[in-house]
Amino acid sequence: MRGVEQIPWLYDLSMALMPGMQRWRRSLAALARGRVLEVGCGTGRMLPLYPDPVAVFALDPNRAALDRARRRSPEAGLMVGSAEHLPFPNASFDSVVSGLVFCSVPDPARGLAEIHRVLKPDGRLLMLEHVHARNRVGRWLLDTLQPPWTLITGGCHPNRDTEKIVENAGFCIERDHYRSQGVMRHFVARKDLG
Ligand SMILES: C[S@@+](CC[C@H](N)C(=O)[O-])C[C@H]1O[C@@H](n2cnc3c(N)ncnc32)[C@H](O)[C@@H]1O
Repeated sequence: MRGVEQIPWLYDLSMALMPGMQRWRRSLAALARGRVLEVGCGTGRMLPLYPDPVAVFALDPNRAALDRARRRSPEAGLMVGSAEHLPFPNASFDSVVSGLVFCSVPDPARGLAEIHRVLKPDGRLLMLEHVHARNRVGRWLLDTLQPPWTLITGGCHPNRDTEKIVENAGFCIERDHYRSQGVMRHFVARKDLG
């Protein structure tokens, strides 16, 4: 299925029309520490925004998007891959970052289990996501729009309860840095060590 997410120039054009999104990305990237893995980096719009002394690895299933990402950030370690099969050992990252990705990951529970595995015990998951609406009319609207929207975008599901999926995967969402605006969310989650 080829949609906007698989056509890098079109994806970047659509994002250029949403300058507010880059402010969300900037604020999320500023929280990254140590060894960083960005899942679903796409065309690499977040990559130049990380603070200086971090080592960044990033992956995305779309090779053409990664070519753009490489131009944006030649120093990042980029690879083709998916959140559901992370090619890294256990406990190998201090921060895992996801920006507008878990609406598109085909198996989000599996992707989050993989992130849980590769994060160090005190590591942090930094997420910027759009999620399902909170009210009944909004939920109905997003459920109705989902099939054509998924087709046009090339995989995005606007009606996922991503925060719930994150918590079910063994994370607890911190109240610090939690920002919510409409269906947009920006938050930090830690492994729930019980
Ligand atoms: C809306 S774009 C976001 C791109 C980038 N993170 C950004 O902020 O602009 C969604 C990205 O998720 C990627 N994606 C889709 N399925 C994925 C998966 N299973 N694992 C990792 N990334 C995936 C897509 O290729 C696409 O680049």
